[in-house]
Amino acid sequence: MDGFERAAIVGAGTMGRGIARLLAGRGVAVSLCDRDEALAEAGRATLVEDVQAAVRRGELPADEAARTLARVRSAADLASAVDGAELVVEAIPEVLEAKREVWQRLAGCVGGEAVLTTNTSSFDIDVVVGDLGASGRALGMHWYNPAYLVPCVELVPARGTDPAVVDRVATFLRSVGKSPAVVANRAGFVGNRIQFAMIAEAFRCLEEGVASAQDIDAIVRDSFGFRLGDYGPFQVADMNGLDVYQGILEYLAGQLGERFAPAQELLGRVRAGRLGLKTGSGVYPWPAEAARAALSQRDERLRSRLRSREVAG
Ligand SMILES: NC(=O)c1ccc[n+]([C@@H]2O[C@H](COP(=O)([O-])OP(=O)(O)OC[C@H]3O[C@@H](n4cnc5c(N)ncnc54)[C@H](O)[C@@H]3O)[C@@H](O)[C@H]2O)c1
Repeated sequence: MDGFERAAIVGAGTMGRGIARLLAGRGVAVSLCDRDEALAEAGRATLVEDVQAAVRRGELPADEAARTLARVRSAADLASAVDGAELVVEAIPEVLEAKREVWQRLAGCVGGEAVLTTNTSSFDIDVVVGDLGASGRALGMHWYNPAYLVPCVELVPARGTDPAVVDRVATFLRSVGKSPAVVANRAGFVGNRIQFAMIAEAFRCLEEGVASAQDIDAIVRDSFGFRLGDYGPFQVADMNGLDVYQGILEYLAGQLGERFAPAQELLGRVRAGRLGLKTGSGVYPWPAEAARAALSQRDERLRSRLRSREVAG
């Protein structure tokens, strides 16, 4: 009852195939469906090619790949895909009306116990899941591409989602090597809200001629992006100084617009003298010993990142 042995994936595209690959690799029997049987089979065939290519590159043992692929089947339609499924993953394109239509059809064919998830990147989960929201078993489960590699999965409860269902999905995700995070049902959740703020600004920089696309990519990769694999924004802000960040944001808000205005969560800390590592607390507490250790660990991690870049050429 705790884990999931049978999953149905609706939409055999980039994300559906990636999630299928992860689940099947971890022992779950997966049925894939798409707009029709031929598309579902084409999705399965692409998944087979991807996994076989990984074997040829030496990334995956052949016997493990064979076991993974034996667990994936294509289904003729939605009803046969979800028949007997304990977990349903909707991964059709980010078109609200299309998602709502699929969820309405799901309501007519899915079993009474199945946990139902949408991989929407941005939409209101209550709107996507519609009447199935009242079942307590529907929620957002937002993966990142490629789903079989990127650790984070955001879990987004709808208004009526049973907290026990959220816990069950989180436990399952951890058991298959993922890092679930429960977030509120707000536009873009957390990952895309932050990621797309960056993308929006990158395109504005390009449009204003601040730098070339190549230079913008290189600057992000080689500056704050260089640290992001190891540290989240609050850890970095604490290390750099929240007062410094306040000053920068105020200047940017004056020059570029209110979208840069510092939030009360930042202003309040600065007013209270909680400036980060240098004052013993910021977003996080920083006892002196922990602060010293954090800085030397940071340097060690960044050095190792530099070395792995040199090795990769
Ligand atoms: N691509 C990404 O990086 C990414 C990352 C996270 C989340 N997402 C989200 O995942 C979802 C799917 O994105 P994608 O990139 O895999 O799209 P995609 O276009 O690669 O795949 C979508 C698949 O759904 C199928 N489909 C369309 N209508 C359908 C229907 N009514 N019933 C069944 N199948 C149907 C399509 O034929 C296609 O195979 C979207 O909600 C997207 O926002 C995408």
